[in-house]
Parts: sequence; structure tokens; C-alpha cells
Amino acid sequence: MLDRSTIDKVFDAANIVEVIRDFVQLKKFGVNYKGLCPFHQEKTPSFMVSPAKGIYKCFGCSKAGNAVNFIMEHEGMSFVDSIKYLAKKYHIEIIEKEQSPEEKEQKNLRESLMIVNAYAQEFFSNYLHSEEKGQSIGLSYFKERGIQPPMIEKFQLGYCPDETRLFTDAALKKGYQQDYLIQTGLTIQRDNWLGDRFRGRIIFPIHNLSGRVVGFGGRTLINDKKTAKYLNSPESEVYHKSQVLYGLFQAKRAIVQHDKCYLVEGYTDVISMHQNGIENVVASSGTALTVEQIRLIKRFTENITVLYDGDEAGLKASLRGIDLILEEGLNVRVVMFPDGEDPDSYSQSHTSSETLDYLHENEKDFILFKTHLLQKDAQNDPIARGNLIRDILQSVSLIPDKIKRSVFIRECSRQLDMSEEMLYSEVTKILRNRSYQASGQQQAKPSQGSSNSYLANPKVEKDLTPHFEQEVIRLLLKYGDVPIQITEEDVTYDYTVAGFLCEQIEAEESLKLRTPHLKTIFDAVSASQLEGKAFNHQDLILHTNPEVSRTVADILSKEYLLSNLWRKKESYVEDESEKLNELVPETVYALKQHRVQVLLKEWNDKLNHIEDDEELMQALAMIKQLSAINQLLSKKLGDRAII
Ligand code: CTP
Ligand code: MN
Repeated sequence: MLDRSTIDKVFDAANIVEVIRDFVQLKKFGVNYKGLCPFHQEKTPSFMVSPAKGIYKCFGCSKAGNAVNFIMEHEGMSFVDSIKYLAKKYHIEIIEKEQSPEEKEQKNLRESLMIVNAYAQEFFSNYLHSEEKGQSIGLSYFKERGIQPPMIEKFQLGYCPDETRLFTDAALKKGYQQDYLIQTGLTIQRDNWLGDRFRGRIIFPIHNLSGRVVGFGGRTLINDKKTAKYLNSPESEVYHKSQVLYGLFQAKRAIVQHDKCYLVEGYTDVISMHQNGIENVVASSGTALTVEQIRLIKRFTENITVLYDGDEAGLKASLRGIDLILEEGLNVRVVMFPDGEDPDSYSQSHTSSETLDYLHENEKDFILFKTHLLQKDAQNDPIARGNLIRDILQSVSLIPDKIKRSVFIRECSRQLDMSEEMLYSEVTKILRNRSYQASGQQQAKPSQGSSNSYLANPKVEKDLTPHFEQEVIRLLLKYGDVPIQITEEDVTYDYTVAGFLCEQIEAEESLKLRTPHLKTIFDAVSASQLEGKAFNHQDLILHTNPEVSRTVADILSKEYLLSNLWRKKESYVEDESEKLNELVPETVYALKQHRVQVLLKEWNDKLNHIEDDEELMQALAMIKQLSAINQLLSKKLGDRAII
């Protein structure tokens, strides 16, 4: 845990222009700076940096935030690692918060294991380059496989001597503790016998996101069915197989740049593609892809393309794993290599542009690919065909985005020659079933509250609550101190925008904000109102919750954009600030109406399932009352659409 004062010092010291300049060329533009956005591909700069506000904002892809957010996003680091990165840049001493003895011990253990791994990596690399057997066995293997010195360097490849315990003895002699050698799995212990796990193997170090070695893969050089081709480090405090992707450390920059990640099977696929200039590649290292691995990729891109070698059986086995990727909301495409080729062999025997052409020309959307693949098997067999359709619709139903889903349904209806309506209703059934199961309720009597829980599932219906709440926050931040006059029943009251909004929202339980990061912002503004202090935006821009800082940066950068860049072109900006007397109360009415409408929907849904007369009367009375409020608010709002 970082000490709060360290975090504060970093936020104070980090100059956004200096921080971003390490990654993006920035040109001065008035009081601000601009450059090509590092988060999407563009030819004309729409990435703005405001030193005064300490924020960046891309008007192309709408990424925004403070210096820490930038490092998090660009380097794919956690909050803590980003703070540490900036602390290093600004020579700020990192003070760790007092930890419990267990926390200390665990942290020390992790650190020790990584230090042992770092030593082992150096040992294996040195052995490869400097020892005779390293050269004659290890280096010549790489040569034969076409892996050249720059890649040996980049991936820190090595060779472990084929002797019982040469490595273990060297490490012990250097003072590394036997216990740590065993916990990392580098050394194997049997009774009183110690030996090197990776003896006689080519070494592929596995790095975490910040480039430290957490484990190893070792490939045997013996062609013997009894010897496992690859041996990996066992699970340890620093190595969780399901949470790392081989090559991600070396690939992350390229993944962001191309907004795409290629997923391959093995170490050598990653390395050969890199050598061929295609650097946005990671490997799941032979295991089925896990949700944690998918989420790692999602930090850098939403587009995954899975590369398969020409083996159809293996391909079918892995289709399930891809469903996981769909479920995480990523776009999945597939490339199939020609029979007998894998990404490694293809990259080795083709030029960079040939390989890229092949990838582009053969890339197919996953669901359509799957439909096509399975269709071949099911041609004249109605039962198989039924299963196939269910299987594909299962995949389609995993896509969280409704619009994307409907595109696929249309495509599948064409490919399978079935009516779109029919496919729609099947997908809806699957979704509804899944939402029962997810909510774990009333599976036995699905008639109760069923449609309700279905609608409440955010994956299915977009919840507009954040939208209405965001509008309140936008006015608060943009116009908080601006005086307004509110007229109620012919009496006019003087307020500030923040004064009015805080009073209204706090007066009514149902209006309280529910979106956590928006509530945080509201509470901060409201607290400074209570104390009668002017509100300081900087505190929120530098807030440690990235959702808070990003939202505030986003709102404030829009103000900057409109007032400085487009002031003359877009006269509606001034219009908005002149209409605050109406706009501010209307925003509150709109939020209120939204809440009322959500309730109305809930009660209406309930109505269908009530059997008891008494309850039915109560529900009807409630609906009547809510409808009246809804109508009143509609009248107040005129026909003005707030969205
Ligand atoms: N793998 C593993 N354990 C095995 C076999 C394979 O962990 N016993 C993993 C490795 O990460 C390997 C990947 O699965 O890279 C793919 O296996 P395979 O295609 O057999 O290996 P290649 O990467 O093609 O290795 P090579 O080209 O050196 O044979
Ligand atoms: Mn291979």
C-alpha cells in the first residue's frame, strides 16, 4: 500500500505536458498543447493537453484524464504502478503505508521470488552466450529455428545446462535461499535430493506487465515422446498461469497502436511474428484462454484476432474458449492458417508484408466463421443442425451489445437460411433463461418478476440513470458558481447553480445520485457548498478514483474546447449559459421523471403477476399516482428532450 502523502506528492509534481511528452510529440497550441492521439490511429492531431487544468483529452476517441490516468491507460499499469512510475520520474521517495506483518511477509516473499527469477534469467542467458555448451547446443538451436540475436535479446531467451544441479548450486553459492529456489520451481526437491527443473532446456522467460520475470517455459531438445516438449514453472506467489499472457509486456505498445491483439498458441509463434515486424501478438501458452487473460487484453484493445494453425480438431475444441471472449464484449475475429502451417512457420517462410496480407485477407468474424465451420458437419442431419443452430445462437447471445447482436442475427439468418424473427426469439429465450440463472431467483416459478429481472440486467437493457445523473454533474462543474433565479409560484429566489442543485437533490431521497463515481463528485461539491467555500476542481481532477478524474477531466475539457476553440462557430455555447434559469431546474425535473418512469415500469411489470386482490388495488393506486407525477413533470418540461 502506498502512503497517501506519496500519492499527493506525485500528483503535485506530475506535469502533464512533461509526462505525456515521453510518449507523444506535442506542439504548443495557444495556452495548450496538441499532438497525435496515442490511443487511436489518426493523421491529424485531435489529442489536446491542458497544462493549466492538468488534463488530456482526445476529441477523436474521447479518452481523457490526468497524468496518472494517462500512464495507466498508455502503459496498461495499475494505479499503484503508475504512481510508482511517476515517483521515479520525479525523484519522489515512495513511502509504503504501514502494513500488517502478514502483508509485509507476503510482499517480501513476492519480491524475493522475483529476485530469484531475475537471477535465473540472467544465469540462463549468460550460459547461452558465454559457455561452450550454451553456444553449441542453445545458440545453434535458435539458429536452426531462424530465431535471430535481436529476438534472443528482446525475449531474454536462454539455455539451462543439461546437468543435474548446476544452476541450483550457482544460485545457492550466490546466497539465494533454497526455499525461494524451490518455491519458484526452479529447483526441484525430492527428500534430500535437489535438481534443476529446466535442465537441458531452451528457456523462455515469462514477464509480467511491467517486464519482471514471473516464470519460465522450457523446451526440451530431445525428440522423445516420453519427455514433455514444454515444461513450465509451477504456480507460485508470483506466477499464476491463468493470469499472464506470454509476450504481453513486449506487445502492449503495438496493441494500443494498432487497436488489435493477435492471439497465438505458443512461445515460438510470438517470437517469429515479432521478428517479422508484427508485434501486437500474445500467446495463451497452450492453455485454454481464461477470463483474467481476456481482461488483460481488454485493457489495451477491444479487438482480438485468434490465429489458428490448420488443425480442425484443435480448432473445434477451442471454440468454447472464444465464447468467453465474446462475453467480455470484445470483437473476435479468426484467421486460419494453411494446412501444416502455424504463425511461427508462416512468419519464418514469408516476408512481413506477405504475412500481413495473409492476415488481412483471411480474417473472418468469429461467429460467421463458426457457423460456416459447423454447417459443413450438419448438412443432412436435422438433429445436428438443430444443435448447430442452438450452439451458434448461444455465442450470439453472449455479445453484450444489442446492436452488434442484431447484425450477427441478420448475417446468421442469411447463412443458415432461417428467418430473422425466429433467430431473434431464440436469442431472447437464451438471454431470459440466463438472467434467471444469474439472479438465482424464482427459477421454479418463472412467472414472478421475471420480465423485471430481465430488464434490470444491464447487459440487456441500457440503464439511462448515469446519463441523467451525469447531466446534473456537468452543470455543477461547469456553472457551479453562476447565479441563477428560480421562480416558483410567482416568487423569485436567488441561487447559484450549485446551491440550487445541491438543495434539490439532497431534499429528496429518491433523487440522490446512484452512480458511484458521480455520487463522489456530487458529495465533494455539496460539501464545499455547506462550508461556503468556492469549489476547487483540481481536487477532483486529481482524485485517486480514475472514473472520477476521467469524468471531471472530460467535462472540463469540453468547456475548454467550446470556449476556446469553437466559441465563434458554435454560438449555442453562449446560449446554454444564458438559459441556466430554465436549464438547471429542467435538469432536476428530468432526473426526477426518469426515476418515476423506472418505478412505473417496475410496477407495470409486477401487475401481470399479482394474484392477490388487495395487492392488485395497491399496485394500481401506485401506478396512478406515479403516472400523475410523470404527467406533471412532462408538462413542466414542455416537449423539450433532455437527452
Ligand atoms: N505447451 C506446453 N506444454 C506442452 C506442449 C505445449 O505448455 N507439453 C504450450 C507451449 O506454450 C507451446 C504451445 O503450447 O508454445 C504450443 O504447443 P506446440 O504447438 O506443440 O509448440 P510450438 O510453440 O509450436 O513449439 P515448437 O515450434 O518449438 O515445437
Ligand atoms: Mn511449432
